[in-house]
Amino acid sequence: KPSTKRAFRIWRGDESGGDLQDYQVEVNDGEVVLDIVHRLQATEAPDLACRWNCKAGKCGSCSMEINGMPRLACMTRMSTFEETETVTVTPLRTFPVIRDLVTDVSFNYVKARETPAFAPPADLAPGQYRMQQVDVERSQEFRKCIECFLCQNTCHVVRDHEENKTAFAGPRYFIRAAELDMHPLDAKTDRKEYAQAEQGLGYCNITKCCTEVCPEHIKITDNAIIPMKERVVDRRYDPLVWLGSKIFRR
Ligand code: SF4
Ligand code: F3S
Ligand code: FES
Repeated sequence: KPSTKRAFRIWRGDESGGDLQDYQVEVNDGEVVLDIVHRLQATEAPDLACRWNCKAGKCGSCSMEINGMPRLACMTRMSTFEETETVTVTPLRTFPVIRDLVTDVSFNYVKARETPAFAPPADLAPGQYRMQQVDVERSQEFRKCIECFLCQNTCHVVRDHEENKTAFAGPRYFIRAAELDMHPLDAKTDRKEYAQAEQGLGYCNITKCCTEVCPEHIKITDNAIIPMKERVVDRRYDPLVWLGSKIFRR
């Protein structure tokens, strides 16, 4: 099929402001939104800023909002849109804009640093760690995270409430907590308690928007957040569990 010209609206600007600009760009069979950004850079918009690396859905760099949906530009096929449809491309909304489609995602690095690291028992030297295959597999899903931060960008707790950013670590760091919670050699921190007390797990009201946008199809809500919430609730707030612990402790 010959290439066609299609309509795009792309947000151009920086931290001081900007607006949507219209472009007509050639589109060929099999192309993805990132190809269009690259074509614009090669033609009429050489200064269009965009972050990308792998073009294979694995580096997590090309996160942006396409027709209002948080997505990876390299994994969004042009064939998913009608030929007559204008495709609107904007930067991630939850993080400050640096320029054009590039945002400052350092919020996530701050949250990563705040999360206590894997803490194996002190009497084990490196090389002595042993774990069962079943334990390796249990948290394998969470290690597929490519750190695209689409879940972090989507969660309404921070997307609509800038003021929550200090108290809320976000879904990407809830799966990290769940992963370490399942790790048989992670000894030091009670990850569930920590998630509740320090990571703001209680702010999450299980809307599952994070799970919907995850390009790795990690079941963030069902497999990480809900089990951590349930166990925290079990232990701390369920009156029967509380009563049981009082009675049996005697
Ligand atoms: Fe991206 Fe999914 Fe990781 Fe969130 S959990 S950062 S959406 S890969
Ligand atoms: Fe946010 Fe996901 Fe919870 S979108 S509210 S972290 S289920
Ligand atoms: Fe690496 Fe899109 S360029 S995920």
